[in-house]
Amino acid sequence: MASALAARALAGGNAVEVIGRDLAKARDLAARLGDSATAGTFGTAPAEMFGTPPAGDIVILAVPSASAVPIVTQYGNALAGKVIIDITNPVNADATGLVTADGTSAAQEIAKAAPASAPVVKAFNTVFGHVLTPGRSADVLFAGDDAQAKASVSAFIDSLGLRPLDAGGLEMAHWLEGTGLLMISLARNGVGNFDFTLGVNALS
Ligand SMILES: NC(=O)c1ccc[n+]([C@@H]2O[C@H](COP(=O)([O-])OP(=O)(O)OC[C@H]3O[C@@H](n4cnc5c(N)ncnc54)[C@H](OP(=O)(O)O)[C@@H]3O)[C@@H](O)[C@H]2O)c1
Repeated sequence: MASALAARALAGGNAVEVIGRDLAKARDLAARLGDSATAGTFGTAPAEMFGTPPAGDIVILAVPSASAVPIVTQYGNALAGKVIIDITNPVNADATGLVTADGTSAAQEIAKAAPASAPVVKAFNTVFGHVLTPGRSADVLFAGDDAQAKASVSAFIDSLGLRPLDAGGLEMAHWLEGTGLLMISLARNGVGNFDFTLGVNALS
């Protein structure tokens, strides 16, 4: 997802910094992406983690759901003032259920761990990675509580050539995560593959 989103973001005229726990891998991806992509690492020592803010205004957590809260906690105030996009699908091992408790979501747990000035927007979790291949379009459902952050994420999605669709407040992240789970089940059952999108077809 990091690679697919970064490629699409660059094509849409955005600056991209790839950050990974393995600097060599981050550099390799940045080189493959070309354009103006740069690489950063959150390093191995806590002092480096706390001291190195990501360069961008928007930070996309393209990591396994279980890693997201620890990463945001490690960064702490280095994320102050950023908009955090949570793309994670917190599904169990056989993708038959969510690992989050009822009444919450991965995105809401990330928001609790993030600085107050770093609003979390759930987005992209209902888009399969290869659907982001250049030239393909999809609806990107998103949810969040901060209007300015949502406007920024909406503009970002638009810049990727995708259609942003506001699903409401961050409490809707639970249902977006359920939708991600549903999509995986559809891929394994009725649809039979992962090469599809789920969107809204407005009739009026
Ligand atoms: N694949 C999809 O179609 C899709 C669609 C929608 C949403 N999502 C969600 O997007 C997220 C990423 O999915 P993916 O398919 O891109 O997974 P992936 O290919 O396995 O990539 C996961 C990335 O997370 C990094 N990572 C893992 N644990 C980490 C940690 N503790 N600290 C720092 N970095 C860590 C990995 O780094 P290393 O290379 O160093 O291991 C790797 O770069 C997941 O939450 C998934 O649910 C995926």
